[in-house]
Amino acid sequence: MSDRYLKFVNTPVGKTTAQTLGLPQPLPLKRLKRNDQPFIEGDVLVGAAAGGKAISMIGSTLGASAARLWHAEDPATLEDSAKAGNKSQPLSLAGEINEKFSALVLDATGLNDTTDLRAVYDFYHPTIRRLATCGRVLVIGQDPSTCRAPAKAAAHRALEGFTRAVGKEVGKKGATANLLYMAPGAEKQLDSSIRFFLSPRSAYVSGQVARIGKSSEAPAANPVAPLAGKVALVTGASRGIGESIAETLARDGATVIGLDIPQAMESLQKVTDRIKGKALACDITGKNAPKEIADFIGKNFGGVDFVIHNAGITRDKTLGKMPEHFWDMAIAVNLTAEELIDEELMHRELLNDNGRIVCISSISGIAGNFGQTNYSAAKSGVIGYVEAMAKQMKGNTTINAIAPGFIETQMTAAMPLTIREAGRRMNSLSQGGLPLDVAEAIAWYCNPGSNGVNGNVVRVCGQSLIGK
Ligand code: NAI
Repeated sequence: MSDRYLKFVNTPVGKTTAQTLGLPQPLPLKRLKRNDQPFIEGDVLVGAAAGGKAISMIGSTLGASAARLWHAEDPATLEDSAKAGNKSQPLSLAGEINEKFSALVLDATGLNDTTDLRAVYDFYHPTIRRLATCGRVLVIGQDPSTCRAPAKAAAHRALEGFTRAVGKEVGKKGATANLLYMAPGAEKQLDSSIRFFLSPRSAYVSGQVARIGKSSEAPAANPVAPLAGKVALVTGASRGIGESIAETLARDGATVIGLDIPQAMESLQKVTDRIKGKALACDITGKNAPKEIADFIGKNFGGVDFVIHNAGITRDKTLGKMPEHFWDMAIAVNLTAEELIDEELMHRELLNDNGRIVCISSISGIAGNFGQTNYSAAKSGVIGYVEAMAKQMKGNTTINAIAPGFIETQMTAAMPLTIREAGRRMNSLSQGGLPLDVAEAIAWYCNPGSNGVNGNVVRVCGQSLIGK
């Protein structure tokens, strides 16, 4: 479904009309055009609060990019910035700044107490207005749950409010702001997440917090085909978000088993033929579904690297009018089937080492939605499942969730016009996301370098105003 308003408002007449009437003026977001495209280009400024532990890693990740790297100089609060490495040049924040930055990256891991928050102001105050269209703000802090001193925990928790507020300020430029919370000692696990959050792959991800934990070192991945040699199961792959996930994982080198209900076989086959994958007809709520899926994987591949639980349904009715089969179906497809499939795959040891499970939640599961008690319960349950399972994952396997906001699919195209328009505009980027945006976030979770990304629920929602 195309967003005609987005196109109109970016014509000269549309721009003037929107300005005159005070209407939202969304900008077209820059998304990945080619897989071999550098993850970031242009001028990138990095800074570090005194004692920053991530700055060397930031420097090494960015040093491998096509960006011109600068490190902030002058305020005493940013004294560690030079550790960004010899590829970075000093830039005085005290004088006039002429560069337009594709990204402003701050290592705030060194904050010890709330007075140290001044470093955040000192870095972003003189530079934020120099952020380019579709630019990136990325803050790296220490996970507050790992800070023993309350003052330190408070300082790092403050970064969350700061980042979300910045996201709201820069959204009108099509830019995003996100926060990585690093566990102590997890510097080496930052690379894949820095790349994702700075790249066009995260065009519709803003106001998010991702937690990066310590894990064993990730094998080096080919940046153009990081998922080469991996096998992915994608449920609900015949259309919409699932189709895009299947295409994106295949684009990144994986062999994809696309699964959908038997009635969707014709479309599914087209998708899997296009990406040289395999199609599996299966209703995931069927009694024997977990066994059928496990048998298929075992027989054809001997194991699976990525399990992407994308299949989902809505059965909307207000609670008092909801027939019981609406309730049962929404819970069964969106929640119970995922648990049973994972249980079978793990029991039969079919999830490979370094494997990934990704579940699709929804903003409805975070905020609740009118007429969707069943769907909201199921999608909220997905979050509970992921958080509990994350503690049990072994062999560098991870489990994470994506909570999409308003994504342009057949599901959202079927909404009444006014609700659809509200859904599209009520976020910092004033537009809906594309299935590709969800798929790119899943590809980041699946990246071999994302071993430390476990138990997260990242929203792909353009920083929707709905939910926390
Ligand atoms: P869609 O309705 O276009 O696709 C869902 C797919 O799942 C279909 O191909 C369908 O046949 C398949 N499916 C349904 N029941 C199944 C079953 N019992 N067994 C096997 N396959 C089954 O939906 P869309 O929009 O692509 O959504 C994908 C996921 O993203 C869903 O989990 C949905 O809840 C979630 N989501 C979507 C949002 C959006 O804005 N489109 C927002 C938030 C979450």
